[in-house]
Amino acid sequence: MLWWFHVTEVSCMSLGSDPVAFLRQDTDSLEQFQEPVSTAFILSNDSKCLHASLMQVASHDGARPAHDKAEERPEGADADAGEPPCRPTRSYDLLGSRVVLSEGDAALTNTGWRTWAGGWLLAKHLEDTHLEQPRRVLDLSCGTGLAGIALAKAGHEVVLCDLPMNVQTVKDNLARNRCAQCPFVERACAVGYTWGRPLPKELQQPFDVVLCGDLLYHVWSGKLQQEFLQTLQEVCCRKRPGPAIVFAGQVRSGRQENQVTGYIADHLGYNEVPVCLDPTWFRQTGSPLVADAKYRLLRLEPQP
Ligand SMILES: C[S@@+](CC[C@H](N)C(=O)[O-])C[C@H]1O[C@@H](n2cnc3c(N)ncnc32)[C@H](O)[C@@H]1O
Repeated sequence: MLWWFHVTEVSCMSLGSDPVAFLRQDTDSLEQFQEPVSTAFILSNDSKCLHASLMQVASHDGARPAHDKAEERPEGADADAGEPPCRPTRSYDLLGSRVVLSEGDAALTNTGWRTWAGGWLLAKHLEDTHLEQPRRVLDLSCGTGLAGIALAKAGHEVVLCDLPMNVQTVKDNLARNRCAQCPFVERACAVGYTWGRPLPKELQQPFDVVLCGDLLYHVWSGKLQQEFLQTLQEVCCRKRPGPAIVFAGQVRSGRQENQVTGYIADHLGYNEVPVCLDPTWFRQTGSPLVADAKYRLLRLEPQP
């Protein structure tokens, strides 16, 4: 069931309470969610967070803008990306390559519309850990695909997934990064997947590393712990020992995030291994990290 809402009121508010969804300020006032909600946070382009009161407009196929109907893809769909549409792009230098991404796609009405610090931190961490070649990597809920595409460019076998409505943007970003020297970008695939659902065939393979960039907020605020755990259990049972799971991102509620990672580690039989952030990352050209925010990197490793 999908629900549409009209933003009726917007006011400034801090991130301290319990937001239930993110909206973009500069797109339509009609937005799409998986469940009925009464409040949401709006992210403006200058990253200010505004609190919005919402009025439910319709459920399912009611009042839906045409551009989103065109963007929606069935779960696991693998439509050919072809030539990426001409959209503004941003580039990141990671793992020895330049990754070019289109961000801020107006068709995306969830947090996948921009690249988050989590994806960048994951790529920086893997740059430091010098993964043996080639590794099978799952970029779970990849957003615009930064970490997964950087790893594919570096010669790893990558599957990227996100909510079905985000997949075309990821495919377009993969197409933007194709080059003769990067055969693994050609082989990488992007599929639609929602936590807790049965794994599409592309995710039913033994991965060595699972990347989770800036996902913890969604898990605790959306009360999706069980669905998220189920996904990780199904992904991790394909291989013994299971894959390393790497969490990275901005800390929004340390306590709730610790609860989620502790719960996952307990259920999977994994150890939590915190990783220190390199302070020079804050000063690097193109770094999305800001001095007054807190970030973290955490590896979950299978117990020996
Ligand atoms: C904050 S973004 C992070 C994106 C990316 N990993 C990064 O670091 O830039 C969170 C991502 O989780 C995805 N997501 C949210 N809820 C989800 C769910 N229930 N199932 C699958 N993906 C979900 C969103 O579509 C979005 O792309």
